[in-house]
Amino acid sequence: MPISWHDDTIRWFRDSSAFTGYHRLLSYYLRPVVQGQPILTDIGCGLGLISLELAPLVEHVTCVDVSEKALASLAEDADDKGISNITTLRGDASQLDLTADVMLASYFGASQVGQWLERCRRLICVTTWAHATHEHRKGTDAERLRSRLDEAGIRYQVEHVTLEFGQPCIDRRDAARYIAEYHPGDGTAQRRANLLARLVDIDEPPFTCYLPKQRSMGVFVIEGGRR
Ligand SMILES: C[S@@+](CC[C@H](N)C(=O)[O-])C[C@H]1O[C@@H](n2cnc3c(N)ncnc32)[C@H](O)[C@@H]1O
Repeated sequence: MPISWHDDTIRWFRDSSAFTGYHRLLSYYLRPVVQGQPILTDIGCGLGLISLELAPLVEHVTCVDVSEKALASLAEDADDKGISNITTLRGDASQLDLTADVMLASYFGASQVGQWLERCRRLICVTTWAHATHEHRKGTDAERLRSRLDEAGIRYQVEHVTLEFGQPCIDRRDAARYIAEYHPGDGTAQRRANLLARLVDIDEPPFTCYLPKQRSMGVFVIEGGRR
């Protein structure tokens, strides 16, 4: 489900990242690929939390997203951290004239790799490896991407990475709102109840409960066509 960025979703996402260390830990897998590169372009960057980790390793980062709210949060974070080599660009990544040494597409645009590969020397694509439930029987994004790259004879490496990316919440009411945001619709009422039942009490102010969740990801590094 696409993220709609507003004050709560921004707060939840940032809290989850800070609490679990998800983006910092994920950045360790990407560091060898971006280290010393002139231009990193992060498409569908969201809050840019991976780019904030990687920015010190490259000359410049361009972070692209359709959401003005997300980019404003990113600009504020960069300012707070004294990071001055990130530029934000608002727009549809497929319509913009983007080029890069390394392009990063994390949980964005895995079905459009062809068009990203033309614009960079290397593409890092982070995408779903396995779902926690069995409801997606048609295969995951990572499986589809693998087949597409194999069929096209494109060179790539892929690593299977699993990281905790659960949600700390202020209280159970906050948790219920989080669950309603990400699991809307009457058809999933039982699922929402099951999720609420999985909340763990914690005493880590300002958080009093935690919804555990693991992300199982394929981290692809793909040879791009740009020389
Ligand atoms: C699931 S989020 C991933 C955020 C970030 N890459 C991460 O891994 O934390 C997908 C992001 O893509 C953005 N997005 C959706 N369509 C887009 C498009 N056509 N061009 C640029 N960004 C887009 C959304 O606003 C959202 O921030």
